[in-house]
Amino acid sequence: MITAKSEHSTLRKTTADLLVSFVFEDQKLFQKQVSILKPLVKDLGKALASGAFQGKPKESLLLYPGQMRAKQLLIIGLGKLEKLSLEVLRRGAAAGAKSAISLKARSLALMEPDSRILAESSAPTLVWEEIGMALGEGVVLASYKFDKYITEENSPSKLKSVAIVSEDKDRAAQIARGLKVANEGCSGTWLARDLSNAPANEIYPETLARHAVDAGKKSGFEVTVFKEKRIRSLKMGGLLGVSQGSSRPPRFIIMEHNAQKKNLPTIVLVGKGVTFDSGGISIKPAQSMAEMKMDMSGAAAVIGTMQSAANLKLPLHIVGLVPTTENLLGGSAMKPGDILTHYNGKTSEVDNTDAEGRLILADALSYASLYKPDLVVDLATLTGACVVALGSVASGMMGNDQEMMERLKESGERTFERVWQLPLFEEYEQLIKSDVADVKNIGGRWAGAITAAMFLKKFIGNYRWIHLDIAGPAIMEEATEYIPKGGSGVGVRLLLDFLRHWKST
Ligand code: BES
Ligand code: MN
Ligand code: ZN
Repeated sequence: MITAKSEHSTLRKTTADLLVSFVFEDQKLFQKQVSILKPLVKDLGKALASGAFQGKPKESLLLYPGQMRAKQLLIIGLGKLEKLSLEVLRRGAAAGAKSAISLKARSLALMEPDSRILAESSAPTLVWEEIGMALGEGVVLASYKFDKYITEENSPSKLKSVAIVSEDKDRAAQIARGLKVANEGCSGTWLARDLSNAPANEIYPETLARHAVDAGKKSGFEVTVFKEKRIRSLKMGGLLGVSQGSSRPPRFIIMEHNAQKKNLPTIVLVGKGVTFDSGGISIKPAQSMAEMKMDMSGAAAVIGTMQSAANLKLPLHIVGLVPTTENLLGGSAMKPGDILTHYNGKTSEVDNTDAEGRLILADALSYASLYKPDLVVDLATLTGACVVALGSVASGMMGNDQEMMERLKESGERTFERVWQLPLFEEYEQLIKSDVADVKNIGGRWAGAITAAMFLKKFIGNYRWIHLDIAGPAIMEEATEYIPKGGSGVGVRLLLDFLRHWKST
C-alpha cells in the first residue's frame, strides 16, 4: 500500500510528476484562485477560455505549468465552498490519485486547499488534522486494485509517493497527524478488501485464521485460534452445525489488543466469517452466488480494525471474535428442521440453512460475555433484506443502547461509512417464535434485516450491543470515487473512528 506523507513547500517549489491544486466553484473565489495560479502557469488563461472548467465537483483540468517544479498540474474542482466537507475532499483527492495512476505518474503531490479561502465566512469549519486525514484517505483508498490474479495485460500503478503539501509549517504538522491515522485506517481497509476479494479457494476458515495470526504478529496483538475439537468442547452448536456441510473444518478466531493491561475499557468486535455461502441445503440460485465469497466481510473488517487499532496503540482493550466456516451442502450438511444448541445453551430451529450467519454469530455473541465488555459491536453481511432497504449507501444499525448508536452514527458521518438505524420493536419477536426450540432462524418474508437482528438479540449477554448489517456497503456492484467494485473494506474506518473517540458513557 502506498502511504501519504506531509510536506512543507509551495506551489512553485513542490516537485512531483503530478501536482494537484483544488479550486472552488464560487465565482469570486474561482477568480481569486486563478489569479494565484496564473503567474505559474503560462497557458492557464487559454485553457479556461472555453469556460468548460468551472471548478464543479468531478471537473478537472490538466496543464503543463511553466514556472513550477512539478511536471504536470491538475486543477480539480471541489464545488461550492459552503458544501465543502471531509467527503468532498476525499473524493477530490481520489480523483487526483486516479489521474496520477492513469498518467503513469510516479510521484503525486496534493496542495492543501487554500487557507485564505477556508477562512471565508461561508466555509464550514474543518480542522487541518481532519483535512489532511480526508485527503490522505481519498488518495490511498482510490489507489487500491485487486489485481494479484491478473497475469495478462496488467499495467500496475507506477505511483510510488504521495505528499499532501502545506505552505505553512504548523499546518503541515497538523496534516501529518491526520495522515498517520489515515494511513493506518487505510491499511486496515486494504487488508479487509484483500481478504474479502480473495476467492473462496484461497480464503477458507484455516487460511482466514492464518491471516489473522499474521496480522497479529506484524501489529502486535494476540491471536488464539480454536480448532474443531475446542469448538466442539465449548459446544458452539451454531458454528458446528453450519460447518457440517463442508469438508473444511471451522475455526473460532480470538484477537486481543492490550490483553495484559488492566482497567482499560473492553470493546468486543464480532465479525461474521462465512468464507463461502452457498446457502447450504436451502441452496441459493446460481446467479451471483460467486459474490458469496465475500460473506466473510464482517470478519475482514474486524481483522482490519484490529490491525489499525493496534498500530495506532489505542488505549483500549479491544477483542475481535470471528466464527468462521463455509456454508456448503455436503452429505452431512445441516438440514432444514435441525435443532442446534448454542454456546449459551439456548436452542434454535433451522428453518432455512441459508440463514447461517446468525447461527454462528449466536455462539460468538454469547461467548463475548466472558470479557465483561463495555460494548459489543458485531458486523455481518447478514441479510439481502438490508440491501433491499438501504442499498450500498448505508449499513443497517440495530442495538440496545441509543447513546452508543448515536455515537457510531457520528463516526459514520465523519468517515462516510454511514449507518442507518432500524427499529427492534418487540412485536418483531413473534416472527421468529419456534414451536420446537427457543427461536427459529428465519422470520418470513417481511422485515428480514430486523428479524435477523432479533434472533441475535436472543444471544447477547448483559452488555451494550450494536449490530451492523453491512451486506449492502461491503459488496459493491459498481465502483464509486474511492471504493472499488467488489469488497469495500467497509467498517474498518468506521470502527476505528468510533474507537478513537471512545467514551464509556
Ligand atoms: N450472506 C447472506 C446475505 C447476503 C445477501 C449478503 C446478499 C450480501 C448480499 C445471508 O447468509 C443470507 O443468505 N441471508 C438470507 C436470509 C434468509 C434465508 C432469511 C437472505 O438474505 O436471503
Ligand atoms: Mn446465507
Ligand atoms: Zn451468509
